[in-house]
Parts: sequence; C-alpha cells; structure tokens
Amino acid sequence: MPQTLRLCEIAADLGKAAQLLRAGELVAFPTETVYGLGANATDGAAVAAIYAAKNRPDFNPLIVHVPDVAGARALIHWTDEADRLAEAFWPGPLTLVGRLREGHGISSLVTAGLDTLAVRVPGAPVAQSLLREAGVPVAAPSANPSGRISPTTAAHVLAGLDGKIAAVLDGGPCEVGLESTILHLGPPVQMLRAGGVTGTDVERVIGRRAEAPKAQGITAPGQLASHYAPRAELRLNAEGPRPGETFVGFGAGGDLSLSVTGDLREAAARLFAVLHELDARGVTRAAFAPVPDTGLGRAINDRLRRAAAPRD
Ligand code: TXA
Ligand code: MG
Repeated sequence: MPQTLRLCEIAADLGKAAQLLRAGELVAFPTETVYGLGANATDGAAVAAIYAAKNRPDFNPLIVHVPDVAGARALIHWTDEADRLAEAFWPGPLTLVGRLREGHGISSLVTAGLDTLAVRVPGAPVAQSLLREAGVPVAAPSANPSGRISPTTAAHVLAGLDGKIAAVLDGGPCEVGLESTILHLGPPVQMLRAGGVTGTDVERVIGRRAEAPKAQGITAPGQLASHYAPRAELRLNAEGPRPGETFVGFGAGGDLSLSVTGDLREAAARLFAVLHELDARGVTRAAFAPVPDTGLGRAINDRLRRAAAPRD
C-alpha cells in the first residue's frame, strides 16, 4: 500500500537516502541511463508503493539493482554468457534476465510471480554509492508516471512524482539517457529491449547475435506501443516542419536538435530532455528529422516510435 504522502525533497545526503530505502520509503536516484524510482526489493509493501506512485496499471516485473556482479550472481542462475556480458558491460547500461535462485529473498511483486528476475549493476557513481550504503537490492523502474517520458534529471522526476515519493537524489543529468538494454539469458540469449548497449556490442562479446524475444508471457509498459509520450503529437522521419509544427533536427537546424553535430551518443543522452522540453514549451505538434537506425540509433528510434504512437 502507498506510503504516507509527503513533500519531496532533494536529499543531499546519501546516507539519509539509503536509510529511507531501508525503512521502506521510495527514493528516486540517478543511474547512467535514466533516474530510477527505488524501493527495497525484499519489502513487498515498499515495492507496492512503486506501482501506486507511478500509477502503473498492472504488476509488471521490475529490474533489481545491485552494486556488483556478486550481488547479481546471488539472485539468478549464472551462465558462461552472463559472465562474458557482465565482464564487458557491468557496471553499465545492461540488464540480464535469468532464472531466480532459491532463497533469493526478492518480493514476488518485483517478479510479478515469474520464475525469472531482471538484474542490473548501474555504473553512475551516485547509484553505486547508494546501493552499497543501502545494503539491500533495490527494485527500480524509471521514475516517471506510467506512460510518460522517462526522467534524465532530478527536476524531471519532481515534475512527475513530487508529493508521492520520500526523496530524490540529484546526481545531475544522466550520461546515457536511454534505458538499459535487456537481455534474457535463455539459452539462447534474447534481446528483450534495445538500449544503451547496442546489438553489435552484444554480438562482439557472445560471438553471435542475440535472438528476437521468445514469448515471455508478460506485457511490459516499455514494450507497449504508446509509451514515453509527451503531450505533443509527433511526426517522425520528417524532412522539415509543416505549418504549426515544432521541428526537432538531427544535425544543424530545427527549433531544437537532438545533436547539432549528428552524434548518436549525444542524441540518446538528450532525447528524453528534448521530449520534456516540448511539454515545457506547450508544443502540440512536433516533427522529428530522421535518425540513422544503426547502433544507439536503434534504441532512439524505438523510443521515438512509442512516443509517437496513437494514445487511448
Ligand atoms: O535503465 C533502466 O533499465 C532503468 C533504470 C532505472 O535502471 N529502469 C527501467 O525500468 O527502465 P522499467 O521498469 O521502466 O523497465 C523494466 C523492463 C520492463 O520492460 C520489464 O518488462 C522488463 O524490464 N523485465 C523486468 N523483469 C523481467 C523478467 N523477469 N522477464 C522479462 N522482462 C522483465
Ligand atoms: Mg520505464
């Protein structure tokens, strides 16, 4: 059930944030991908409060954040490929889904009753320090109301969740800016969500392409057609603006640009901030220039398609 609602504060103090987490409160914190809405993953009431604060319609499984590989290995069955992937990309923007180990202690609200668990070792220093200090595995979806744009600054978090969470730790803007890549360990290894680690990176490390997802029996918000949605109606792959549209370029030009130099890494880092900016400007119609569908561009285009999809 939801915690007592309180005014949110920017907690300067990591120790205090860790203490709040241990006490079953919700604390938003920065990772290198997006800000997460954290709760003690072993505390069912705390995890339930995540769903209430986000207004997430269903109990969809959450990612558990731990400070190191040992923490992950304690929770899921490990494979040779997991070893190679963790060695190459952790700490970093990669999530591994594996079969739960006996005695894992994670609340069944985190896994939505599945026998698998998604685990991630984030690299952002604030996230690392918080997880070590908290000493408990931390369940965290992106810290935004369900269906809205993911947050890449503490101000974004407050704009969506102020009054519903105990604190947000301000670690500045997120470096990667897109959610983690999610791999199911299988076998075979399957890519459930494109993200900060590209398909080519994965192929290089495991020696073959990650397969398309097999049926998981779950529908996750990030996999829904409409998600990451700003208030504006979006038109993609636009050569230029039509009357009344705000134009978001890739490269020079446009009212806003994902990256003036046409750099995919910068565009990924700026994407959600640009969508938030459209809302802040009260834009009702926006057109986006094409973004190359290679490397990080795949994850950018995935998020843009969902942001542009028709809403209910
Ligand atoms: O970068 C990220 O991954 C961010 C930061 C905060 O770590 N978190 C994030 O969480 O994006 P969220 O809840 O927005 O997305 C979690 C995704 C969902 O699409 C969910 O379906 C998938 O992880 N997931 C979680 N557990 C799973 C499982 N056992 N099997 C398959 N997919 C799972
Ligand atoms: Mg999300």
